[in-house]
Amino acid sequence: MHNTLSGRFLILTIIFVMLAEIMIFVPSVARFREDYLLSRLERGQIASLALLADDSIEADLEEELLLNAEVFNVVLRRDEARQLILSAPMPQPIHKTFDLRDASALELIRDAMSRVFDREERVIRVIGNPVRDAGLMIEVSLNTGPLRMAMIDYGLRILLLSAVISVITAIMLFVAVRRLMVQPIKRVVGDMQAYANNPEDARNVIKPSASISELREAEEALLKLETQLTSSLKQKERLAQLGSAVAKISHDLRNILTSAQLFTDRIEMSEDPVVTRMAPKLVGSITRAVKLCETTLTFGKAEEPAPRLASLELSEIINDIFASERLASTDAEVAFVEDISPGFTLMADNEQLYRVIANLVRNARQAIVSSGKAGEVRVQAAQTEDCVEITVSDNGPGLPPKAREHLFAAFQGGVSKGGSGLGLAISAELIRGHGGELLLQKSDETGTEFVIRLNR
Ligand SMILES: Nc1ncnc2c1ncn2[C@@H]1O[C@H](COP(=O)(O)OP(=O)(O)OP(=O)(O)O)[C@@H](O)[C@H]1O
Ligand SMILES: [Mg+2]
Repeated sequence: MHNTLSGRFLILTIIFVMLAEIMIFVPSVARFREDYLLSRLERGQIASLALLADDSIEADLEEELLLNAEVFNVVLRRDEARQLILSAPMPQPIHKTFDLRDASALELIRDAMSRVFDREERVIRVIGNPVRDAGLMIEVSLNTGPLRMAMIDYGLRILLLSAVISVITAIMLFVAVRRLMVQPIKRVVGDMQAYANNPEDARNVIKPSASISELREAEEALLKLETQLTSSLKQKERLAQLGSAVAKISHDLRNILTSAQLFTDRIEMSEDPVVTRMAPKLVGSITRAVKLCETTLTFGKAEEPAPRLASLELSEIINDIFASERLASTDAEVAFVEDISPGFTLMADNEQLYRVIANLVRNARQAIVSSGKAGEVRVQAAQTEDCVEITVSDNGPGLPPKAREHLFAAFQGGVSKGGSGLGLAISAELIRGHGGELLLQKSDETGTEFVIRLNR
């Protein structure tokens, strides 16, 4: 109860109303005492006026008058010379005198409180102004017992009233807080839990409906968060599915390629000169494919393995790539030009560099073929003091805008039919793994140029 919002409101309201009531209670009790004493003064005055009619009244009558006024004695000073006196025996001497004529509010409150807490019954003297200017001053003495009882009785009634008021107020606030705050908050929490149980389901995303603006803001922020989360979860799931698909494909592809390898081993023994010329290339390609499948399976994740650097003769790699690209472009007029000084070597991972350059050369060839015109793919290499630059250029149609926007981002930039849009992303990653970079040097209607920059 005390941990809930509405419970706290209930308790706090009771406390605050009680505090407010005490602030009312103390002055009211002081006021009550003042009124009580003034009425005794007035009754005393009325009783003393009987003396005006008859100077020497009977002792019995005097006692009765004082009894009716509930005081022990009365002194009414009419003017400097005359005063009326009524008196009856007092049970004890006067304990204290209170002058109501010039008492401040604070004094009245202090005297009232000390009366409430003083359990002893005492005789006090009270001085005041007579009503209707009947004299200069009036003084009575009285017993505090009935005064204190009347004050306590009055105070208890006020306390009871405040208790009733505070309980009613608190209950009303409790209900209001439940309706205005607790229920809307519970609804949002319920929505959040429903979402958390199945965040992939876009139907569970919160629909903002609160009328309280603070809560509405929270709902809207939540809506944004949940929408983002749901879409990124979906994206992740797609990637995970793709990952396992790649693993399965690599696995079976490796088996297929391994059998192909067995056949090519036989073909290598053929006597046909064309076959003997082609066979080593075929064996090389298949071996490469088997290795790629194997590394994919061993690593089993999207990251490429760290490159194993070795000194490579660049023109050998380029020749291999060109040979297979030439085979693929029989019907179009694409020239492959290798512009590399003989004996140019560099440090890189053989397989990975092959894949990067093959991707760039294949993209260039595909671009030229798709343009329907004849063209040329050129690979150059240059060496400076601290880096090696390999340039793959073509005179094809240039990059389409969509490809340029998402250059090197997986699955995004591909516009070619049958392409997956992975080639450049993989290439850039492999070169980054070498501590180098893959850059688009130029791309316009006269052609495209990519540069691989590797540290020496
Ligand atoms: N030399 C180039 N000339 C013109 N456009 C190019 C060139 N290289 C790449 N592109 C464009 O960039 C896109 C992205 O290339 P990327 O190699 O990443 O994917 P892809 O070739 O479509 O598919 P794949 O994953 O099979 O390589 C291509 O679809 C192509 O439109
Ligand atoms: Mg490509």
